[in-house]
This record gives sequence, structure tokens and C-alpha cells, in this order.
Amino acid sequence: MSILNGPPKSGGFIPRDRVWQPDALTPPYKTSVKRSPQAALLSFPTTLSEETSPVFGHSILGDLDNDLILNYAKSGESAIGPRIIVHGRVLDENGRGVPGALLEFWQANAGGRYRHKKESYQAALDPNFGGCGRTITAEDGSYEFRTIQPGPYPWPNGMNDWRPAHIHFSIFGHGFAQRLITQMYFEGDPHIKLCPIVGILKTQEAIDALTAPLDMNRTVPMDSRAFKFDIVLRGQRQTYFENRKEGL
Ligand SMILES: [Fe+2]
Repeated sequence: MSILNGPPKSGGFIPRDRVWQPDALTPPYKTSVKRSPQAALLSFPTTLSEETSPVFGHSILGDLDNDLILNYAKSGESAIGPRIIVHGRVLDENGRGVPGALLEFWQANAGGRYRHKKESYQAALDPNFGGCGRTITAEDGSYEFRTIQPGPYPWPNGMNDWRPAHIHFSIFGHGFAQRLITQMYFEGDPHIKLCPIVGILKTQEAIDALTAPLDMNRTVPMDSRAFKFDIVLRGQRQTYFENRKEGL
């Protein structure tokens, strides 16, 4: 879009509320000590390209990109684990759906193990599960993908810390200024209240915003259960970052 045509449709973005977000330095989450900024943050006005790019088209997607049950599986086979559908809407700070947003997601397998060269957990790999996928939101901001429910896993933080079952999300909205990295948890998981990463969230409301409820309306009988996860980009109704206050 030419700047001669006036301001971009997406406009500027509401500044991130840094009081509302988790603190960057949260020592019970050990790695936040080294990852958090050591100096005061600098603030810059957003640029046109940050407000209007990137733009993704459906042509970048493969047929099975939104199906983690099949996208790494051998022909005729499928991933092991509870079959689920994850769906919801990506909304902006005013409650409007965000169409064309690229969602990328990655997760451990049903045993809690990632397919990654630095993974050290002894749980078995599933030869038919890769653990990554992506999709693009529809006109109303809605999205869905199919996967297996990941398992909880231990991690080196305290003496005996376990992550709740979770799915990692990266979301590109209408511009880089809306970029969001977050995690989705599952309703009813007893590990949620024990997790040091969840513990950096300041309110129960924040935890609830990251916890997807079972959605029986979207289940497929005799096939898959469904969980609903809405994501809000920027502004007062924003979904929470995992642990960091980021620039922009
Ligand atoms: Fe994880």
C-alpha cells in the first residue's frame, strides 16, 4: 500500500501494557534471570512496515500443515495419543477478528517428548509425530488444527518441576508489532498451578486466558475431543506473553 493513499488500514497499535504483562525477571523461573534485560528498555515509534507487514497467503500452506496427526506420519499410519481439535479466533484489542494471521504451533508428543536434537527426556519418540504445524486465520479470525494432546514433561529448573501439557504458539497478526509468542494449557490439568512458568502470571484471570476449556460442541463423535483457545493481540485484552516484556 502506498503511503499516498493515507494511513494503513491497520493503523497504529495500542502500546503494550507492561504492568499487565508478567515481569521479565522472575527468579523462580530460573532462565528468566539471564534472559531478562539488564538495562532500561528504549522506546521507538513503530514504522509503517512494522504496522503493515508481513502479509501471508494461503499458498504457503501445505495440505497437512494443520494436521499434526498426519503431517509427519508414514502413509496409512498416524500419531499416537488422544486425538484433539484446537480451535478459536484471533482477535484484536477491539474484539474484531484478525484475518490472514499466520499461526505456528509446536508441542511435545503424547509422552511429553519433543522431536529436537537437544531434547533429553527419556520418554519415547513417536515415529509418526513431528510436533509442528501452521495455519492461517479465516476472514472472521477463526482457525483450527488437529493434533494429539501432548504429555507433561520434567524440566531442569527446581528439584522436581514438570510443565503442564501445553502447546506453543507463534502468531503474526497484521504487522510485526502484533507478534505474539505464547502457550496454551488444558482445562483441568493439575500441573498448571504447580508450574513456575505459569506462576509468573500475576492474576488467575491471566492463567484462565491461557487455559483452553474442553469444547464438546466441536468434538467429532468417536474421533476427537476439542479445546477452544481464543487469542487477543495487543491492547487491554491481550493474551499474555510467556515471560518477557518485548520491544515494540
Ligand atoms: Fe514446551
